[in-house]
Amino acid sequence: MRIAIGNDHAATAMKFEIVAYLESLGHEVVNVGTDNTGSVDYPVIAEKVGRLVADGDCEKGILICGTGIGMSMAANKIRGIRAACCTDPVCVRLTRQHNNANVLTFGARIIGSVMAQELVRVFLETPFEGGRHEKRVNQIAELEG
Ligand code: RB5
Repeated sequence: MRIAIGNDHAATAMKFEIVAYLESLGHEVVNVGTDNTGSVDYPVIAEKVGRLVADGDCEKGILICGTGIGMSMAANKIRGIRAACCTDPVCVRLTRQHNNANVLTFGARIIGSVMAQELVRVFLETPFEGGRHEKRVNQIAELEG
């Protein structure tokens, strides 16, 4: 799978861990940065990853900041993006099954490396259930105007 990933200065080390994990699983990674710890604005990074996913260049996206919250707020402003900020694998599984989330966000200041890898694993492996959830996901799209 081709996966877009981005982070702000709060999450650079965790981003590189996740990139290595994704590559060990055989995925193709598009890293939009930042690759150092100098301060950057997370909405700029969220837009880059969001556009790659919304335009179909990447199948899914991963965004990491201090909490994961700012990244999700920003990414969800992009038409076609359903970003979910998660701290546990149950929510990741359910947001894939029910919401067809196409971007996962989490916080490097909130969860550890092992949990982050597990969230990513579940995000990539869990299919959308469709069915009754399809209508609701379409209703989300209608809110985009
Ligand atoms: C940066 O200090 C911090 O605000 C950012 O990483 C993130 O947590 C925002 O939601």
